[in-house]
Amino acid sequence: MSERKILVTSALPYANGPIHLGHLVEYIQTDIWVRFQKQRGNECHFVCADDTHGTPIMLKADREGISPEALIAQVGKEHLADFTEFGVAFDNYHSTHSEENRAFSSLIYKRLRDAGHISSRTITQAFDPIKNMFLSDRFIKGECPKCGAPDQYGDSCEACGATYAPTELKNAVSTISGAKPIDKDSEHYFFNLADFTEMLQAWTKAGHLQPEVRNKLAEWLDGGLQQWDISRDAPYFGFEIPDAPGKYFYVWLDAPIGYMASFKNLCDKNNLNFDDYWALNSTSELYHFIGKDIIYFHALFWPAMLSGAHFRTPTAIFAHGFLTVNGEKMSKSRGTFITARTYLDHLNPEYLRYYFAAKLSAGVDDIDLNFDDFSQRVNSDLVGKVVNIASRCSGFISKRFDNKLSANCSEPGLFQEFLNANEQIAEHYEAREFGKAMREIMALADKANQYIDEKKPWLIAKQEGNEAELHEVCSMGINLFRILATYLKPVLPALTTEVERFLNIDLNAWPTNTQALSNHLISDFKPLMTRVEPDKISAIVEASKENLEKTSAQQPLNTTPKETLFEPIAGTIEFDDFAKLDLRIAKIITATHIEGSDKLLQLTLDIGDETRNILAGIKSAYQPEDLEGKLTLVIANLAPRKMRFGTSEGMVLAAGPGGKDIWILSPDEGAMAGMRVK
Ligand code: 2FM
Ligand code: ZN
Repeated sequence: MSERKILVTSALPYANGPIHLGHLVEYIQTDIWVRFQKQRGNECHFVCADDTHGTPIMLKADREGISPEALIAQVGKEHLADFTEFGVAFDNYHSTHSEENRAFSSLIYKRLRDAGHISSRTITQAFDPIKNMFLSDRFIKGECPKCGAPDQYGDSCEACGATYAPTELKNAVSTISGAKPIDKDSEHYFFNLADFTEMLQAWTKAGHLQPEVRNKLAEWLDGGLQQWDISRDAPYFGFEIPDAPGKYFYVWLDAPIGYMASFKNLCDKNNLNFDDYWALNSTSELYHFIGKDIIYFHALFWPAMLSGAHFRTPTAIFAHGFLTVNGEKMSKSRGTFITARTYLDHLNPEYLRYYFAAKLSAGVDDIDLNFDDFSQRVNSDLVGKVVNIASRCSGFISKRFDNKLSANCSEPGLFQEFLNANEQIAEHYEAREFGKAMREIMALADKANQYIDEKKPWLIAKQEGNEAELHEVCSMGINLFRILATYLKPVLPALTTEVERFLNIDLNAWPTNTQALSNHLISDFKPLMTRVEPDKISAIVEASKENLEKTSAQQPLNTTPKETLFEPIAGTIEFDDFAKLDLRIAKIITATHIEGSDKLLQLTLDIGDETRNILAGIKSAYQPEDLEGKLTLVIANLAPRKMRFGTSEGMVLAAGPGGKDIWILSPDEGAMAGMRVK
């Protein structure tokens, strides 16, 4: 069979927070599949990028006192380091804030516009008069118009399930500034998705989707397709729409185009032909691995955009379910919202790769990470079965035979049985039935161990004159181990590298017609994997609880497209809440610029009984020298907050809409510093 040309993507992670174990289900799943394709000899490229645009990223940068560009550069580095240490080997990791993406976004937009698929009209939206920005539903909170529940988002009520327009919320406030939103008109641009109804009816039934996804899409299509609002007003971190100054592409317009942009970037580096993969007449395969929450974007908008702009559509979309931990949604307070970094600080990443592989199927069901099951499976399958084969046989080969395998394969039938399993295992990998593949491989590992149990090399070793048999049995064990390691290579790349060193061969080729190693020199055996230590798991849970205490802004639990990054500002508070605030008049002792920050100043304040270091986002309004010696109002009992430029030990109270208009000073200087305000 001739080599296939395959382009594979994982969903682009938002650049506003760390990679967590929920994300890793997808990246590990995709990486296993890609490594398998490469091992089969196919030409396979795996690209990804950070998803960098949108309001949450803009606001987060603002809050940290850095530019969005600086934020996404920093987060991009952290994401790639996490992926690399988990063995997720992208051929290219790029950014949606790139020239390639700007060019493709413009091109696709212009082609859609010129073909009549874009319309514009004026819509009325909630607007924050303090921040001077339009507010999406997720940035508005108020009382549910149906049941009166407080603190509900602008689109739906979590208490009674009602859905409504944000204008219907009672006592609505902007979660960004706390201001009461006003209605304001603005012209928006829309993609006429309904123009593609027929195309999508056919495409969604043509074998590109999993059956359960296809059924869901049939419901959406039967309900009729709406126009999709693809523009956002300034201020917005993104790409300006070519013919519409002050209007920006909505993040979800340019995010999937980021797949193309990352691949173009790879083509330019490695001299690949972009059109071979994206042109209308391309015969290459294109696969997108995604979470089930973003099917709408990938199975409706994306194929419609591609088709309207005369590019090829995906060969298939592979959706997976969410991750639960110990049977429940990941929870920050239970310490089960675990970042990639926290895991890496304590445990071998290959444990998790194997565990996910053992649990993954081709469907969209959620998968559960149960800590007991995790330890038990890793210890029993990888340490107790697979690695054990090598450790049982290698000692004799080393001590008695100078690390040389026997000339003869004593059980060609058993060796052939291991080889014959390759087709079934390959079918499972190809179909993303990794759990089934792992079960086949472990059944073979059981057979190899049974063989050793039956032959009992430790007894043969004690008998005189049975050297040849001992040599053959142990060599047979090593040969079986080699085939198992080759089957596991897509899942356990780091372990396999160690096995390659031990066996002095590479395990690159899929074992279809492999010969047993004979008269082959191996290396000394070193332990390949140790058992999961239970105290490491408790340490991860504890560290995850601590992370929660340390960081003020966390990212959503799954990759939901909704902008849920910010905690809301409460509607009203009781007097008792107010009484908890330790408000003090403080004297500014020193004020300095912070290198690298274009928003923050560092203040040293005398609050009466001590001095405090506070980072304040007031650089746009004050020169440091104008502040020293002046009085300001602070909250002295706010828990210290770790920021990019240091820890802020309190908060300066400011008034005003922002920019040059921020006021923090009291007019009088003097001896009032440290005075409590109530
Ligand atoms: O849901 C998410 O996390 C998005 N950042 C995924 C984008 S995938 C692609 F369309 F870019
Ligand atoms: Zn309600």
